Amino acid sequence: MPIIIKSSSDIKPSEITSESDYHNRRQFIKKSAVLLGAAWAGRIAMPANAKGSDFPDAIHGRHTTEEPINSFEEITTYNNFYEFGTSKSDPANNAVDFNPHPWSIAVEGEVAKPGIFNLEDFIKPYQLEERTYRFRCVEGWSMVIPWVGFSLADMIKHFEPTSRAKYIEFTTLYDPERMPGQKRRVLHWPYTEGLRIDEAMNPLSLMAVGLYGKTMPNQNGAPIRLVVPWKYGFKSIKSIVKIRFTETEPVCTWNKTAPAEYGFYSNVNPNVDHPRWSQGTERRIGAPFWQPKIKTRLFNGYADQVASLYTGMDLSKYF
Ligand code: MTE
Repeated sequence: MPIIIKSSSDIKPSEITSESDYHNRRQFIKKSAVLLGAAWAGRIAMPANAKGSDFPDAIHGRHTTEEPINSFEEITTYNNFYEFGTSKSDPANNAVDFNPHPWSIAVEGEVAKPGIFNLEDFIKPYQLEERTYRFRCVEGWSMVIPWVGFSLADMIKHFEPTSRAKYIEFTTLYDPERMPGQKRRVLHWPYTEGLRIDEAMNPLSLMAVGLYGKTMPNQNGAPIRLVVPWKYGFKSIKSIVKIRFTETEPVCTWNKTAPAEYGFYSNVNPNVDHPRWSQGTERRIGAPFWQPKIKTRLFNGYADQVASLYTGMDLSKYF
């Protein structure tokens, strides 16, 4: 399409914006931006026990953030859950009929108290908390999510790991009839993830059973998932059916699929780029269009709580 450039002598006086109009317009844009910004900033975390929570006994957790939180709609319609398809809207559409009840979880390996537990018994010993965490995906987007869950450290202590337990491995349900995405070999099924035991014992590590005070939506990993906020989102494995304590580093799905792209640690690190995506900045889902991208922080901004786990390690080698 040709672009016609008018010289200043072609422009009629009526087409020229007066200075006062220009300023009024600027003021209007500024005011709208402030209002939009205020609306964005006004999204504050709701305590789990407010507004008909599914978890009336949950307490307001210690670990939280004051940042604007994402809406329930954003958190539940823009998902990665390949068991229900590979596009962002697939999990919300394809997991509608998934029924996560009854559900059981096997605890195996280097522990004094292994067993198979139904979900209700599994959760019962722990104090539920609402914790609002930043959540950063390796693809370069992020959200702030008000989870409901319990401390992974409390769970580990409960099962009494042996001195040989150096790592913990998590496995997602494998059931292609209920999780139709597993009929395609896009990943090695079942999805597995793992942490070093001291990472798992960090007070930030969370076993989540809900969000926004509601039972975990299917697309977010019902009925129970992991949340490790200083690591890229893929470490936060969904719909867990097995937890195994091991002496050796567990095999993790993304690491196995593309070892040059996804390491075992997967700590959020703006200084180590993924081969296909810069990790220096991130786009906060739902932020106003005019808001610049956010600078990604080392360990997703949780360095004070977790940096000591990696003292002396070369983070570009152990990515
Ligand atoms: N867990 C399983 N079982 N399957 C998956 O495909 N995707 C991971 C992680 N956990 C995934 C998973 C990725 S890549 C991300 S970014 C987060 O889940 C997304 O969590 P959310 O949909 O709740 O935002």
